Amino acid sequence: MRPIIPDYLVEALGDVEPDASGAPAAYIPELAAADPERLAAAFATVDGRVYGAGDVDVPFTIQSISKPFVYALALADRGFDPVLAKVGVEPSGEAFNEISLESGTGRPLNPMINAGAITVHSLAGPEGCGPADRVERVVDGLSAFAGRRLSVDQEVYGSEMAHAHRNLAIAHMLRSHDVLTEDARTVVDGYTLQCSVVVTTRDLALMAATLANRGVNPLSGEQVVPGRVVRQTLSVMFSCGMYDAAGDWATQVGIPAKSGVAGGLIGALPGRIGIATFSPRLDRHGNSVRGVSLFERFSSDMGLHVM
Ligand code: DON
Repeated sequence: MRPIIPDYLVEALGDVEPDASGAPAAYIPELAAADPERLAAAFATVDGRVYGAGDVDVPFTIQSISKPFVYALALADRGFDPVLAKVGVEPSGEAFNEISLESGTGRPLNPMINAGAITVHSLAGPEGCGPADRVERVVDGLSAFAGRRLSVDQEVYGSEMAHAHRNLAIAHMLRSHDVLTEDARTVVDGYTLQCSVVVTTRDLALMAATLANRGVNPLSGEQVVPGRVVRQTLSVMFSCGMYDAAGDWATQVGIPAKSGVAGGLIGALPGRIGIATFSPRLDRHGNSVRGVSLFERFSSDMGLHVM
């Protein structure tokens, strides 16, 4: 990491540091035990410069930030039509863990909410691949976005699976509509593993930069998914990535983004930059409080709003 922009990042972190509002996610016991004071921000440009400040190398689980990346993998693996037939692209206006299925078809409204992401997980990898190969494809794919080999936090995975009643209920609803065509628990198991992949803020900035760079990781040079897939993914992030706060986010920050309940937050500005922040205290939407403040500031200071 190069010591140029860090002065700016250190100052921005210092300004949000006193804000102790919100709380770490409580519904996954391992996450509730996270150090709430952790704070980090990182930038990765599309030409491969990476800047960071604070706890940029502290590991945490990716959680819902995996959703856009696995959506991209499913689109790349299966093509658009089979994925769109199962998962829509409309904002739900509801919390991430609401059922939010289209009436009649049972199709989840979008891939960023849990119902959509559980379905998308079932569509990763080649058609007919088994649950173990699918998880391998997901971890390999997330690793390619990050440009390094990522692993799974078995404690967080076990902790979430032991309390996954809500996601299991959603998956059974999806199974009842034949949106899922296999065992509901097996799919939730794989989806929970996907959410338990360990990343750092630096990794997330590079993953976001890979989206900003039309699917090419700026450091490894690997084309992880095609450009057309990235356009679809960023569009859905823009309209649905911040759940029922997506409208506020679009007006205040104005870049495609995704949050996770471990406290991570990413934004990708096409052709320019990937940004990531980490701070575990969440607001009522499940978005990081200090992460949202940091993004508001970055957007305003650097004129990042796409409008
Ligand atoms: O499915 C869940 O509830 C978690 N594994 C992920 C949720 C999440 O990160 C929501 N984002 N803010």
